Amino acid sequence: MRKLAVFGNWKMNKLLGEARALAQSLKAGLAGTTGPEIAVFPPSVVLSAVARELRGTPVGVGAQNIHYEPGGAFTGEISAEMARSAGAQYTLIGHSERRHVFGETDQWVNLKLKSALEAGLVPVVCVGETLQQREDGATREVVQRQVQAAFEGVESAQAAGVIVAYEPVWAIGTGKTATAQATQEVHAFIRSLLAGAFGEETAQAMRIQYGGSAKPANAAELLAQEGIDGLLVGGASLDADSFCAIVTAAAGQAQQ
Ligand code: 13P
Repeated sequence: MRKLAVFGNWKMNKLLGEARALAQSLKAGLAGTTGPEIAVFPPSVVLSAVARELRGTPVGVGAQNIHYEPGGAFTGEISAEMARSAGAQYTLIGHSERRHVFGETDQWVNLKLKSALEAGLVPVVCVGETLQQREDGATREVVQRQVQAAFEGVESAQAAGVIVAYEPVWAIGTGKTATAQATQEVHAFIRSLLAGAFGEETAQAMRIQYGGSAKPANAAELLAQEGIDGLLVGGASLDADSFCAIVTAAAGQAQQ
């Protein structure tokens, strides 16, 4: 069975003191947790402080975004190596807010994925359709384009370590979640794309998370679905109790 991965994306939230306090609460709340792989993605400016708080705990740390170049005149950006040196083990890539609010292209996503792999970060590649695209019946087409573009030129051996997060844009921060069946169908479709690109064995080993209004009340149901290998949690990861409750739901699932 694939190890479930429960990740918290803090987005642009938490001042330094708040971030430290949340990390300390997670450290206390999740001490000794076994089963799911756990990580949080704080804003880059507090990443090293959060990583320090969480050292030696079951909670890993990741960046929310990286630039694909290793360094240079890119004001405001951080490289994969910088994120790693600040304590990140993971990085999100192509989150829908990066794509839709900041105009990040499929080509950038691909370059960032390669840069993360080169730096030894575990990439979490986010894909998902907008409400309009879903209503137009274009979900598969969009997801296929995003997955294929993201992995262009990536070898099977490297792809095996990449996590894909399916986050339908209309479910993010809206309180709406895709039905378990609809989600499962898209996850199966993504896995078939990965199998086409990298072979069945690699595709079966890769984790595909769901994201979009995941919370304690729906975590167990989502995680019970075949092919949903974890959750990428936004709003509900900003509160230690609700994030810990989601991790507990995953730990329960992992034991079944
Ligand atoms: P919400 O859980 O707030 O809907 O956000 C999901 C998300 O975008 C995680 O990356």
